[in-house]
Amino acid sequence: MRVYRSALLRFADDGSALYDQDGLLAVAPDAAGRERVVAAGPWQALSSHYAGHPVTQLPGRIIAPGFVDMHIHFPQTDVIGSPADGLLPWLENYTFPHETRFADLAYGEQVAEFFIDELLRNGVTTALTFATSHPASVDALFAQAQRRGMRLITGKVLQDRHSPDGVRDETEQSLMDTEALIRRWHGVDRLGYAITPRFAPTSTPEQLRGAGALAARYPDVWIQSHVAENRDEIRWARELFPASRSYLAVYDDFGLMRERAVYAHCIHFDDDDRALMRDTGAVAAVSPTSNLFLGSGFFDYASADRVGFGYGLASDVGGGTSFSPFHTMLAAYYVGREGQTKPGLSLTPEQLWWQHTAGAASALGLGGVVGNLQPGCEADFVVLNPAATPLLARKTQQARNLAELLFALIVIGDDRVVEQTVISQAKYGPGA
Ligand code: GUN
Ligand code: ZN
Repeated sequence: MRVYRSALLRFADDGSALYDQDGLLAVAPDAAGRERVVAAGPWQALSSHYAGHPVTQLPGRIIAPGFVDMHIHFPQTDVIGSPADGLLPWLENYTFPHETRFADLAYGEQVAEFFIDELLRNGVTTALTFATSHPASVDALFAQAQRRGMRLITGKVLQDRHSPDGVRDETEQSLMDTEALIRRWHGVDRLGYAITPRFAPTSTPEQLRGAGALAARYPDVWIQSHVAENRDEIRWARELFPASRSYLAVYDDFGLMRERAVYAHCIHFDDDDRALMRDTGAVAAVSPTSNLFLGSGFFDYASADRVGFGYGLASDVGGGTSFSPFHTMLAAYYVGREGQTKPGLSLTPEQLWWQHTAGAASALGLGGVVGNLQPGCEADFVVLNPAATPLLARKTQQARNLAELLFALIVIGDDRVVEQTVISQAKYGPGA
């Protein structure tokens, strides 16, 4: 049993934020040896139950749930900041050439190690990530995540057409590789597999059909792809799949929309697309820094909420510009301001934070497992220093309520705020 005394942030089932200025968090291993939250709440009310246990005192710090990144590309760690006119030239000129390097296991291992360090340094404790089309890239990332005890979901990218030599795969082999990787990794320790067609334009109908068949055979495996990000991409998808009602409907037509299916971007949707998301249980990975960087457009929060489909936040590195959840939450705020619905929304700091923790976990089907610090949750958390920089210290000291405190962290904060990231037994960071 480990007991912490600190300010404590967590979320109620309805998404509202719960905050104890003087809080207690108790964690202990379950029967299987996995550390879980056993108590979380006000120190005053709980501390008598934990007398006799050593207490880690964290004065001036905030314990908060580890962040959940719903969509990121580990092989694009070095692609961040590559300029292009838009998505398709960015893929052709930077991303595809770079991803060819991951055919080499040793190269993938070295990037995977850096990538996971960078996630943890930024306070991200769960990620749904793309690998490349090379099975070795999946092995490299899973092995590294397993070594850290991290909850991580990834999969081999499927792309058997309209892709250059070096990343293009072969239809039948790609599906056999996918199934072999599911059997090797899915459900091992904290790892999960995601069937990963890159996006409809780079897969043949046969490959999408095979992916859909695997998704039906392995219902608790995730599915991840991209949709409705960029207008040129949408035009291309519509040309290639004229029989489908919309770009999103292509995925539905091949059995790739269900719970645990996560579609990045979901910008240029109509209400039928939104209803299809809602009715199938598929969810959106909203990727605001990427959408702003590549000039893709703005996720329409108001319409998503009106129709009622699930979503959460994602960095989408390397289209996205930062591993930092603080940068992503701030960009989401800007995007909410724009929206397609005028006037745009003012997303509250509590909503933004929820979208990157408990809300993202729930969209992934991992509600009550990660992204929160309610009893029963796996004990992945961050220790935040709200005075990490002179400006933050000055600003957070003046906060009169939780919203002002969280907003100061979102607007001014970055990796310097994250003093420790704690995963199960393992700790990372300068304060660890
Ligand atoms: N669509 C297809 N591939 C990609 C990718 O790697 N990044 C983004 N942002 N969109 C894509
Ligand atoms: Zn992406």
